[in-house]
Amino acid sequence: MAKLSRGQRRGAGTMALLVLVLLSLALMLMLALGFVAMPSASHGSSADVVEIKLPSHRHFGANPLSRWVEVLSWEPRAFLYHHFLTEEECNHLIEVARPSLVKSTVVDSDTGKSKDSRVRTSSGTFLMRGQDPVIKRIEKRIADFTFIPAEQGEGLQVLQYKESEKYEPHYDYFHDAYNTKNGGQRIATVLMYLSNVEEGGETVFPAAQVNKTEVPDWDKLSECAQKGLSVRPRMGDALLFWSMKPDATLDSTSLHGGCPVIKGTKWSATKWLHVENYAA
Ligand SMILES: *[C@@H]1O[C@H](CO)[C@@H](O)[C@H](O)[C@H]1NC(C)=O
Repeated sequence: MAKLSRGQRRGAGTMALLVLVLLSLALMLMLALGFVAMPSASHGSSADVVEIKLPSHRHFGANPLSRWVEVLSWEPRAFLYHHFLTEEECNHLIEVARPSLVKSTVVDSDTGKSKDSRVRTSSGTFLMRGQDPVIKRIEKRIADFTFIPAEQGEGLQVLQYKESEKYEPHYDYFHDAYNTKNGGQRIATVLMYLSNVEEGGETVFPAAQVNKTEVPDWDKLSECAQKGLSVRPRMGDALLFWSMKPDATLDSTSLHGGCPVIKGTKWSATKWLHVENYAA
């Protein structure tokens, strides 16, 4: 083996130092962009509050710390992403959808076709997947937070519920062969609240077990919402729940409904995700 001369050894030392400096710079850059998270104090004392930092935090602009994930339930598997959308994004979805709202329909479980129904009295419209840059960005964020690629999602459905309008408890998975031809069964749903609602309009899971003494402000929930685990609509929050269990069987505890709006107007956007690519 050749012996290094004094000059070559000094060269190697300089090189090692240079590599160290470059590595430190790269780490600092990654920290700044939010790819790597430093441990930081949690928001509350509750052990159920988990602060996560994903690469998609770079979508979030200022103050990503106000965004956090709440584990609502394991049966059904339901999670609330607080401040998932910005106010501008919520308003954008409403304004894009508003001109094309039509009376909502439900799927006929015998034929698989859409039909009018008294169990669902909202108005709504489907947006195209990747319809504009804002929608594309939101769909990317949904993919990042559900770990399901955007290609497996249907176009967003924006819904408007006026006073007394509701959606009776139902499953998001299909009971017919017709609707599973494209993309297979629905695996999960992301329900984003685009407006605040003064009273009512909660999303309720009537099959979930709840201990009402552990629910804050239980008496402020509507009568409908007291029938199960419920989520109060709040602008920008996103509810993720799974229609399928990890063993790929259908989860009957994912039964859910939209409680009647009592005061105000509820706007929401739904993203249905399938087990396979969905041709949109
Ligand atoms: C409901 O929660 C309260 C407070 O945590 C507890 O004391 C009570 O035993 C719970 N009830 C049931 C039926 O689990």
